[in-house]
Order: sequence, then C-alpha cells, then structure tokens
Amino acid sequence: MGSQKTSSAKPLRQADHVAIIMDGNGRWATNRGWPRLVGHRKGAERVKEIVRAAPDLGIQWLTIYAFSTENWKRSTEEVLGLMRIFSRYIKREADRLAAEGVRMRFIGDRSRLDPKLQSLMAGIEARTAGLTRLNLTVAINYGGRDEILRAVRALAQDAAAGKLTPEAIDEALLTARLDTHDLPDPDLVIRTSGETRTSNFLPWQAAYAEYEFTQTLWPDFTPAELDEILSRFGNRERRFGGVISA
Ligand code: IPE
Ligand code: IPE
Ligand code: MG
Repeated sequence: MGSQKTSSAKPLRQADHVAIIMDGNGRWATNRGWPRLVGHRKGAERVKEIVRAAPDLGIQWLTIYAFSTENWKRSTEEVLGLMRIFSRYIKREADRLAAEGVRMRFIGDRSRLDPKLQSLMAGIEARTAGLTRLNLTVAINYGGRDEILRAVRALAQDAAAGKLTPEAIDEALLTARLDTHDLPDPDLVIRTSGETRTSNFLPWQAAYAEYEFTQTLWPDFTPAELDEILSRFGNRERRFGGVISA
C-alpha cells in the first residue's frame, strides 16, 4: 500500500481511489470487422489484468463502469451478451478474487437485472466481504442521476414518516443513502476511447476528482498506461477550493 513512485524529485500524491469509464469496446471490434461483443469479451480480459495490477500501483479502491442506465438502449443481443459476460466474470473469477484479497461490491439499480445475476452478485459480495487488499466496485445498471433520485426518494420517505426533518438533510445524510455509501470519493476518474464526457458516472462523488482522458480504446488499455496516468496524477495540485500556501 502507498508505495511512492520515484520518477519525480518531489513526493508524489497517491490516487487511493481510481474510477474508470471503460469505453471503446465496440469501436475496437468494429475496427477489425468483428461483432461488438468480441470487443466486450476482450474488455473483460482487460478488467482482469487491471484488477490484478491495481494493488501494486498503490490503488486501494477501484471502481469501474460496466453498464449504464442508458445502455439498455442497445440491441437485445448486445445487452444480453454483456449480462452473460458479467455472470461469467463473477463465476470464473470468484476464486482468484478471493485468493487475492479483493473485496467486490456492485453499485447501480439491481432490481432490473436477471435474478440469477443478482444472486451471483450478492454471493460474491458476501464471500469477499472481509477482504481488504483491493476494493473493487463494479457499476452495473448504474446512473448517477438515478442513484441520487433513489437516495432522495428514500430521504423523502423518512421525512414523510416523521423520522427526519427536512432541515436535518445535509451532505452526509445524502451521501449515506447513495449506493457508494461505504466508498471514499474517487481521487481520479479515467475515461478511455477519446470521449471527454462523464456519461452519468459518479456525478456527486467525483465533484472534486481529477479527470484523465486517453485515446486508447478499453481493450488496448494496459497496466503500464495506468501507471503513467497515475504518475501524472501525482504531479497535479489539488486545491479543493482553497489556496495552496507557498
Ligand atoms: C464500453 O464500450 C462498454 C459499455 C458501454 C458496456 P462501448 O460498447 O461503449 O464501445 P464504443 O463506445 O461503442 O466503442
Ligand atoms: C459509458 O459509456 C458507460 C460505460 C462505460 C459503461 P457509453 O459508451 O455508454 O457512453 P456514451 O453513450 O458514449 O455517452
Ligand atoms: Mg461507448
């Protein structure tokens, strides 16, 4: 944990929580004349590699965007294919994740997912609950606006039931109702594939995150590029609205 890199003279800041918008699987496959699902399969292989590399890069929290609330607009074939990839990943990786000390969590609205997938998700969360080497969170059917709406609705229900006064609602109470309630805010959000938008990913949590955009398509993203991005992050000055004293 926290091993400092030595590529710069001044001490580098560590990105404890890195969040990744894994984009570009479709283009990666289409560029080769292959079906989009081939790109998603290749993307899942990349996830395995990045998860394996993350702890040695000093990352304690890794949160990855796998399926957005907007991704249901895609063809049934692509959506079902992605869901199969998620199930297969959990089944095939469970032993390795547990052996490597990875605690796995999911964020997003699970109620719309296949019950079998939901139970695989709950199973691996329970199985890895005591592990601490890496906190891996996968966003499935996740949308930041949807997450905030669900949290606000829950607070409104408490207020209507007399358990809460509107004045008592503060940032901490809302944060506690989000899917990410037991995660720290991300320090760094990375998006692959050259798009420079956030696509509804962690809008509340990433309010003060640094962003890095790379042209690399997700199936071509490597631990070496992640390491480079982390070094750049280490040299950035984060002010959080204040002034850095000289
Ligand atoms: C990201 O790759 C994976 C998901 C959104 C599920 P895309 O499938 O969005 O790839 P492009 O953007 O079409 O290349
Ligand atoms: C964002 O990628 C969602 C995920 C990576 C899961 P999209 O490809 O869905 O985003 P847009 O449509 O380009 O904004
Ligand atoms: Mg995309």
